[in-house]
Amino acid sequence: MGNENREQWGSKFGFIMAAAGSAIGLGNIWKFPYLTGVNGGAAFVFVYLLIVLFIGFTVMLAELAIGRASQKNAVGAFAVLSKNPLWQLVGWAGILCGFVILSYYGVVAGWSIKYFIASFTDLMPIAESGGAGDYFGGFVSNATQVVIYQVVFMIMCIIVVAGGIGQGIEKACKIMMPGLLLILVILIVRAVTLPGAEKGIEFYLKPDFTKLTPKVLLAALGQAFFSLSLGMGCMITYGSYIKKSDNLASSAFYVVSMDTLIAFLAGFAIFPAVFALGVEPGAGPGLTFVTLPGVFAKMGGGMFFCAAFFVLLFFAAFTSAISLLEVVVAYFKDELGWNRVQASIAMGIAITALGVPSAMSLGGSPVIFGMEFMDAMGYLSDKILMPLGGIFISLFAGWMMADKLEKEVTSDGLHPFGLYTVWLWLARVVAPIAMAIIFYFGIIE
Ligand code: PHE
Repeated sequence: MGNENREQWGSKFGFIMAAAGSAIGLGNIWKFPYLTGVNGGAAFVFVYLLIVLFIGFTVMLAELAIGRASQKNAVGAFAVLSKNPLWQLVGWAGILCGFVILSYYGVVAGWSIKYFIASFTDLMPIAESGGAGDYFGGFVSNATQVVIYQVVFMIMCIIVVAGGIGQGIEKACKIMMPGLLLILVILIVRAVTLPGAEKGIEFYLKPDFTKLTPKVLLAALGQAFFSLSLGMGCMITYGSYIKKSDNLASSAFYVVSMDTLIAFLAGFAIFPAVFALGVEPGAGPGLTFVTLPGVFAKMGGGMFFCAAFFVLLFFAAFTSAISLLEVVVAYFKDELGWNRVQASIAMGIAITALGVPSAMSLGGSPVIFGMEFMDAMGYLSDKILMPLGGIFISLFAGWMMADKLEKEVTSDGLHPFGLYTVWLWLARVVAPIAMAIIFYFGIIE
């Protein structure tokens, strides 16, 4: 089933940077720290780690194996590996999910460009006098401006994806991911050395097991899938470009660990600073675009740290957005025979268009409404489509690829995987049942 003409990642390191780039995104920087802070601190981190280890890693490896075995996009992969066309629905749901996520993701990513620029112009003085909330409200209700930044961001994504796997996506991620790590370290050092930083760490990590309700468990599962880019065919698509000789299990392990580590660390860049400077932490976009500028404005060299933070957010969002676009582009390329450049431009435009109403819906309405709108989109993608996708992908790899699976995971025996049988039964039974239970109780609550 080898496909001589398929593009490939240049190296295992390149793949890991690209996949970690996909995984590490807005979900890590603005969502994980906040979810942790309000949902039980270290107790939440503990269940999140269990979910990542037993479910996240299992599904990640399943997706990479499906992708590499089939050498296809999310829909084509199921068509190649199974005669039953119903499986392709899982792929279709994934393409839809990519489309939906990127439509609003591009809007928020555009905000990061605006805020990066604003760090040097008018944001700091306004935030210092307590005006960060109005500043944000004013910006997001100016639909034209929001759309312009969204379009600029989407054009950058189109350019990178049109550039291809090795020369486009891999190259971009190999520059941005180390950059992201460096900036994060700088911000953490600054935050934790501020006097009074401990209060923030306490807010972030104070364990409270009573907060772990079924709803919070679903939030943790949804967050794990969203953060790891799982359940919608992204890792199937990226997996299809991995060289046959590379080790899938260790690659999956690196990607999962890096994503989790960065999410956890992001909280150390945020809460110690928020509490040290005596600011109330906001929720979701508010925390990132209102609370943080206010915090930076109060510290020495604030302009520099604020700009650095928004570059970090931009890098995180950008390397994720290109993977979302690639999911859609790969489908049009493989299945409909479009060329990469055409597919990137056409799909980039279509997705941007779908995002325009989300960008405009913020216009005139209170900021909270924008927040709710995105919550609704987020609910559809990360609480419904992704967990369901995860269940079926896990079952598919575990049961439907019988003879191909072990060969794929071990690269035809090149990389024996000591825990293969453990992983196989996690994929076949444990992970799907755990996901189904969490999904069921989380939805009914
Ligand atoms: N993982 C990305 C984040 O944490 C979002 C994403 C989801 C990217 C699905 C690709 C596919 O922000």
